[in-house]
Amino acid sequence: MSGPALRQLDAHRSIHEAAYGQVKDMTEVLKRLYREERLEEAKQAELILIEHWRDHIISHATSEEEGLYQDIKQAYPDMADTITQLTRDHDLLRKILARIEESLSADQQAEERLMMYDSLLVVNWHHSRDEEHYLLNL
Ligand SMILES: [Fe+2]
Ligand SMILES: [Fe+2]
Repeated sequence: MSGPALRQLDAHRSIHEAAYGQVKDMTEVLKRLYREERLEEAKQAELILIEHWRDHIISHATSEEEGLYQDIKQAYPDMADTITQLTRDHDLLRKILARIEESLSADQQAEERLMMYDSLLVVNWHHSRDEEHYLLNL
């Protein structure tokens, strides 16, 4: 998920779409488990979903910050503000995910976490579209 693929629009967009489709589907499954009050399975599904966000989306973001974003800032200094904004999106994903993990380990209400999983999807969707628009057509 790093290196040349991130610098190539179609490959990078495919990475976004695949990862988004997976977490979106997993979030739907999770909601169904809670609706059906299958609480033990729901908790397992949450752990897997959180891990998926970390392994596929947060790690993608970190590799962008270490590679692609640095390269773009060097080649196009006037893109520095855009890079800052896109990095802020990544930070929001990290903050929301950390809040979800706190809530889960404190055994708080699932309802609030379900809203936060939706927030992750919304932030990530807009972030990916902006990234494709601003950076990958340079
Ligand atoms: Fe990104
Ligand atoms: Fe990306």
